[in-house]
Amino acid sequence: MTRLCYVNGQYIPSTEAMVPMFDRGYHFADGIYEVIIFFNRNLLDEALHLERLHHSLDALRIPAPMSDASLKLVMREMIARHPFNDGYIYLQVTRGVARRDHPFPKTPTHPSLSMFVAASKQPKPEEVTNGVRVVSAPDQRWERCDIKSISLLPNTLARQYSIEQGAREVFLVNDDGMVTEGSLSNAYIVKDGTLITHQADHAILGGVRRNVTLRIARECQIPVEERAFSLEEAKAADEAFLTSANSNVLPVTTIDDATIGSGKPGDITLRLLELYKQHVTEQTGRVWA
Ligand code: PDD
Repeated sequence: MTRLCYVNGQYIPSTEAMVPMFDRGYHFADGIYEVIIFFNRNLLDEALHLERLHHSLDALRIPAPMSDASLKLVMREMIARHPFNDGYIYLQVTRGVARRDHPFPKTPTHPSLSMFVAASKQPKPEEVTNGVRVVSAPDQRWERCDIKSISLLPNTLARQYSIEQGAREVFLVNDDGMVTEGSLSNAYIVKDGTLITHQADHAILGGVRRNVTLRIARECQIPVEERAFSLEEAKAADEAFLTSANSNVLPVTTIDDATIGSGKPGDITLRLLELYKQHVTEQTGRVWA
């Protein structure tokens, strides 16, 4: 299907969308991105995505390509021109076009803004009912994973590995044997009723769903510990799950060859999934079948 794109002020079909050879995103992965879900043509958690967008831009000293108000208008226009009610916007900002030279250009460039809209790819019903399998792999990324950088080579290699292993995702394990997160999701375990997930430092991306899930958990008095947990601890946990834009709250029932808990999605995981769905319905009017 031809996707609708936005490239620096123009709405164009993907077949015609071009970015310049000398865009620093192309040469140096010098840019950042966001993936923002919409249901019923309403953006989900837009404010949290814009907050993270600014965190990433500020960290790389890339100026915002336009005001938030203008960005919101462009995103709404993209959704209005898209044929489906549910989907996601991919939004990317790079430092712009300059002669290929490692340091920032002396003459400031105008940041490049591009977007596309794609149909929603929600988890399959059986993945939610049975839970999914993840495999572990070394975390080979850099030390600023809190920046939503387009430099995703270690993530793509890890994701490819998980596919070759027949798994839904990969839990990345650092040199100390601690699980940081997934290749494109945040990782959680539950032990003795406590929800545990890596603290939001430079080692992980502060997921928007992570933010919402922890808020929801605290609101319903589920104890939360934001700390690193080891792969062994994960395998011995009562429950595990992951969150991301396109996965919502997705139960994990196998890690490598270890069955988690009873081998079925856990009670706390399912409760958080229900509450997350309520959050989505409240914001977007999306009714779950
Ligand atoms: N990935 N951690 C990493 C490394 C991610 O790439 C993502 C999202 C997340 C979850 O963040 P959020 O809840 O805001 O989606 C955590 C997106 C979806 C992607 O790259 O396609």
